[in-house]
Amino acid sequence: MADKHIYCPNPYILAELMPYGHVYPCSCGWIKGYSFGNIFEQSFDEIWNGEKAQEFRQKLYDNDFSLCPGCQNLEILEEIHDGQPKLISEPPERVLLGLDEFCDVKCVFCRGENYKINTNLIPKDKEDKLLDILTPWLEHAKYVKTNAVGEVFASKISRDLIRQIADKFPHIKFEIITNGIHCTKENLEKLKISDKISMMTVSLHAIKEKTYNKLVKGGNYRQVLKNLEYLSELKKQDKIERLELHFTVTSINYKEIPEMIEYTRKIGAKIRLLGLDCSRDLETLYNAINIQDKNHPQYNNLVKMAHSKEFLTGKDVVIQGHEYFSGLEPIPFAESLKNKIKNLMKR
Ligand SMILES: C[S@@+](CC[C@H](N)C(=O)[O-])C[C@H]1O[C@@H](n2cnc3c(N)ncnc32)[C@H](O)[C@@H]1O
Ligand code: SF4
Ligand code: SF4
Repeated sequence: MADKHIYCPNPYILAELMPYGHVYPCSCGWIKGYSFGNIFEQSFDEIWNGEKAQEFRQKLYDNDFSLCPGCQNLEILEEIHDGQPKLISEPPERVLLGLDEFCDVKCVFCRGENYKINTNLIPKDKEDKLLDILTPWLEHAKYVKTNAVGEVFASKISRDLIRQIADKFPHIKFEIITNGIHCTKENLEKLKISDKISMMTVSLHAIKEKTYNKLVKGGNYRQVLKNLEYLSELKKQDKIERLELHFTVTSINYKEIPEMIEYTRKIGAKIRLLGLDCSRDLETLYNAINIQDKNHPQYNNLVKMAHSKEFLTGKDVVIQGHEYFSGLEPIPFAESLKNKIKNLMKR
């Protein structure tokens, strides 16, 4: 066994509670759905320090990252420690709640025209016991992030849950991710979290209304911009620690990236450019808009833009989900992870 160990904090501090109650120690796609257990079937201790959790932590301690083939968070793999493997962990300090996928719009890259909401993600007999089930997960948490799989303001389950959490755990800060349409002062006050937001992420995939309407079916571009004005004001007054925009890159909107970066700077936010995740069931459409595919007719335009100076220099521009932006040739994630580990081991 190597005497140097690369440390990843996530399986000790982060719990992602996702559809059907599965618990992941990191982004589900990066770890290919390796679940520690199920909150509707097992207790907190059985999951968080159970066999599957310990196996995951042991593997990472052994510098075996085979359970993390899609890791896109290489920057957190920095510390090297030589101590004993720590397989049992304190409760998580950050909990991501993504139990409910209800949404009021259909973004073309997320939900196709025929998409049907799955109402079985939370067992019916558990719906009114959710807060009790979540309590052991939240007792030591400092941050709750919600909702990465649906629209928080559109879902009654999510709204009720946030209010209950804010009441029962007044110290918890919230990280909200939203399409921004209903993210108004009134709605934040109704949720009782207007003074407890550590991070606000708004997904805005275009700077031009016409482009937005092509991507977000049933959206409301003008309302999102209005709400962003309010959020920008909160950020200026330090009432929100971080304000971030998400922009999913497709052939429909990529030309607007530079203007979008400019707008983001104007409102005091950061921007995260998301590579298209093609694992969903919308294959025909993805082929048409997946500009990150080398065979896409506009692929070279994107690479050229990605290597322009103004695009890559800003610290306020985060690129996630694609290495196409940082090398002339795409590097698969597994390869980047291997390189990173190799470099850390050499130190
Ligand atoms: C699923 S949404 C849920 C939160 C909220 N409804 C929103 O739109 O921000 C979370 C993020 O995933 C992104 N997303 C959805 N489908 C995607 C895909 N196929 N590829 C890449 N990002 C995607 C969205 O743009 C959004 O920023
Ligand atoms: S190594 Fe990467 S994918 Fe694995 S838990 Fe850490 S951040 Fe997540
Ligand atoms: S708003 Fe969010 S959850 Fe709704 S369709 Fe768009 S990306 Fe998906």
